[in-house]
Amino acid sequence: MSILTILEFPDKRLRTKAKEITVFDGKVKTLVNNMLETMYDYKGVGLAATQVNVHQRVIVIDVSEDKNEHLCLINPLIIEKDGEEETEEGCLSVPGFFEMVYRAEHIKVKAMDKDGKPFEIEAKGLLSVCIQHEMDHLDGKLFVDYLSSFKRKRIKTKLDKIHKQEGKNTK
Ligand code: NI
Repeated sequence: MSILTILEFPDKRLRTKAKEITVFDGKVKTLVNNMLETMYDYKGVGLAATQVNVHQRVIVIDVSEDKNEHLCLINPLIIEKDGEEETEEGCLSVPGFFEMVYRAEHIKVKAMDKDGKPFEIEAKGLLSVCIQHEMDHLDGKLFVDYLSSFKRKRIKTKLDKIHKQEGKNTK
């Protein structure tokens, strides 16, 4: 397993729309394992393949306290949603920033596991927020897109400055 590099806002590669997984082979399992290791290493609660520059519809999540209940959703689709709630969100691709975002309170999702087996999951609370946040990544969307352009620009300016200091190429 290996820890992958996480792209950071405003990197344009984060705007790529991910493609569905059609072949469930060893490559998918390796990707999932590496994404899990990366998520745990960065102490995140979720990670989308888009964030590690792999443009396939794969997300991993672990909202458990002991970090031992991971969930992998491939080709996820929201089939039901209701309610609305506002939660403070952060993102490994927007490090250091936390802002309030509105999401559906309750969702029902259809997805496949790493072997291509379909399943459904109902979620509310943090898990619901996390799934919606990660699914946005697969469509090239970030939580900062829900903020005012003033706030988004301020975050971009600060991250640009940090990336420049680090000599990071964010394209
Ligand atoms: Ni994120």
